[in-house]
Amino acid sequence: MQLRVVTDQPWDVQADVLVVPIVGEPGFTGELDEIDRRSGGELRALATFGELKSKRYATALAAGGQLPVRRLLAVGGGDAGQLDRETVGRIGAAAERRLGGRDVARVAIWLGPIADAIEGGAIAAAELVARGVVEGSYDPQSIYRATVEAAPPILDELVLILPAGADTTGALKAAERGQVIAEGSNTARTLSNRSANDISPEVLAEEARVIAERHGLWIDVIEPERAIELGMGMFMAVGQGSSNPPRMIVMRSGGDGERDGLDRHLAIVGKGVCFDTGGISIKPSERMEEMKLDKTGACTAIAAIDTVSRLAPGTPLLVVAPAVENMPGPHSTRPGDIVTALNGKKVDITNTDAEGRLILGDAMTYAEQLGATHVVDVATLTGAVARALGHLVTGAFGAPQGFYDEVVGAADRAGERMWQLPLIEEYVPEMESWYGDLQNAGSAEGSLIKSALFLREFVTKPWVHLDIAGTAYYRKATAWAPRGATGASHATLVELALAGARSG
Ligand code: BES
Ligand code: MN
Ligand code: ZN
Repeated sequence: MQLRVVTDQPWDVQADVLVVPIVGEPGFTGELDEIDRRSGGELRALATFGELKSKRYATALAAGGQLPVRRLLAVGGGDAGQLDRETVGRIGAAAERRLGGRDVARVAIWLGPIADAIEGGAIAAAELVARGVVEGSYDPQSIYRATVEAAPPILDELVLILPAGADTTGALKAAERGQVIAEGSNTARTLSNRSANDISPEVLAEEARVIAERHGLWIDVIEPERAIELGMGMFMAVGQGSSNPPRMIVMRSGGDGERDGLDRHLAIVGKGVCFDTGGISIKPSERMEEMKLDKTGACTAIAAIDTVSRLAPGTPLLVVAPAVENMPGPHSTRPGDIVTALNGKKVDITNTDAEGRLILGDAMTYAEQLGATHVVDVATLTGAVARALGHLVTGAFGAPQGFYDEVVGAADRAGERMWQLPLIEEYVPEMESWYGDLQNAGSAEGSLIKSALFLREFVTKPWVHLDIAGTAYYRKATAWAPRGATGASHATLVELALAGARSG
């Protein structure tokens, strides 16, 4: 898709479709009035009819009339005062998705109403809308199907119409950045959506290798023999039950232990459970098929280093992605098995379905052994976070608060919502084990907080935990995204790493 940025009047731009964002109640003054006049009063008529609304992601298609476009597409953006970065991206995505199955190759989007309402103006609008359009073009059905009904159109050209006097060079650069971030998010989504008989831990490692080779990144894939030798007892306890052996995937851009512009050696640690049956503590079969998506954290981390390498090559960044299948079988870990973690702690595995924290614990210790000074883990860790926060907000923990705030700053720039959850010290004793140092699961009360308290036992450096179990995938389509993996937190991780970039 070719990106073009212009400062022409919106009614002068040729395209198949002109997208008109409706931010706040449509006043039909200024440019909107002129667009409506040239369309032959189509927009006003639709508004009177009740079809054209400013409600978020509400869409209305209208004829182009005398305009040099075949159709107008109005997309609601909600109240101007509440237009945030997330909404701007979703306006772009909703526009692209609304055109699913239509004969469209060239789309123009009038950014005026967005640029006026968003902090960062035309530059921010260009980046976020371009990103949204590319994310909106994502189609998971085409992974396995030859033909897909009403797939979002593949665009030859996206024209972004900026207000007169805007910095077109800066806006084009911003739009291209948005496109690259969206492509990374879509890479994460495809890896994540692919089924468990397609992506085993070894296949995920192969995919990571392809990305590493493309950018000349250092990569190390640790196989079971070496994982045992190193002492990754928790990682192996989960991985040993499957005939598809586990892989600890380690990737790095920049040098060994190299610090970035913020004096960090940042590590992203992503949960890569290629399928989570629960193991011997087996899950009920209802919706178990969703557990192919339990590798999303790893896919997101791998895609993030890909994106960072495209935008600012050489930026110091470590990715550790423990990949396993959590299966029941003759070699599986049994509830009550006691294993030694890489950091030496004796862990009583009371529930084999609390496997994410086991593999992440060893992966975080390993990240620190490789010199990480700051650790962010990303994981579909608990059903509890989805019950508490739903699918639109990622649950986040972290300490010290300063580093947590840096991650939230990155999330704000990325236009992603996070909600901080507390690490309650008084709950720590409930994770203590009679036989070992700690157990991996306790009672259901406060289990979301306890999952983070467990992880904390395996980090000594500034740390943030992102529980994406609610946000990683949608069970049904929204206006801006199809069912399946969403790419949630990819953009945040990219922004976090790029904050320390010296180039790009
Ligand atoms: N992968 C699941 C969490 C999950 C649930 C992700 C639903 C996405 C949707 C995780 O491994 C798990 O099974 N967690 C348990 C923890 C419990 C045994 C302490 C849970 O949430 O029930
Ligand atoms: Mn589980
Ligand atoms: Zn899991």
